Amino acid sequence: MNHLGTVRLETERLILRKFEEKDIESFHENWGIDAKTHEHDWYYKINTIEDTKKIIYEMLERYNMFPLHSYKWVIELKSNHEVIGNIGVNIFAEQHQLVEIGYSLSSKYFRQGLMTEALTKVVDFLLNDVGVRIIVANADSDNIASINLLKKVGFNMDATLPERKVSKKSGKVVDSCTFSIINKNFKG
Ligand SMILES: CC(C)(COP(=O)(O)OP(=O)(O)OC[C@H]1O[C@@H](n2cnc3c(N)ncnc32)[C@H](O)[C@@H]1OP(=O)(O)O)[C@@H](O)C(=O)NCCC(=O)NCCS
Repeated sequence: MNHLGTVRLETERLILRKFEEKDIESFHENWGIDAKTHEHDWYYKINTIEDTKKIIYEMLERYNMFPLHSYKWVIELKSNHEVIGNIGVNIFAEQHQLVEIGYSLSSKYFRQGLMTEALTKVVDFLLNDVGVRIIVANADSDNIASINLLKKVGFNMDATLPERKVSKKSGKVVDSCTFSIINKNFKG
């Protein structure tokens, strides 16, 4: 793979770029304290702006430590310059040229095609510029928005792993759906 790091990307309505210190307030308001956007993740525990600050500082540290190997985009809306979401990529298995992608958006901006726009751009960048062979993504079976988004962007649903998770949203046991997109032009 030809690692490039968090390169600035643009779509019609969005700028995808590295996090900056100036994003703390807007990101906290739009994303940090948005309970709906965290309905499916157990990972983040955000109460105060200090929690969001910590997340952003960790990103800044990663950019410094691994400039070409950290892929963490903040999503900025061109129309008002608010930062409204993020896309992150983990290099899961370098030897297999495989990466895992994750994303989330402020619920204020749900269902406007924004993540389709952002994710399509990042997937294109990973496949064509970084030369990733396969991108994987996972979604809980009750996260219909994420499942439909992945299908819309061209991911294939490879498998459903039964009863892998407990839904944060409902407290019920759910399946984990695993998706992938394979680079047809992969050069090896
Ligand atoms: C998943 C998520 C990123 C989708 O972002 P979005 O910008 O609202 O998605 P889009 O508007 O681009 O929609 C893409 C497709 O997903 C589907 N979709 C989106 N929201 C949906 C919903 N609430 N119900 C059913 N389908 C939905 C639709 O098929 C839609 O295409 P269409 O509008 O042409 O029918 C957003 O809901 C989110 O951030 N959720 C919380 C975080 C999260 O779950 N992250 C993923 C963890 S695996």
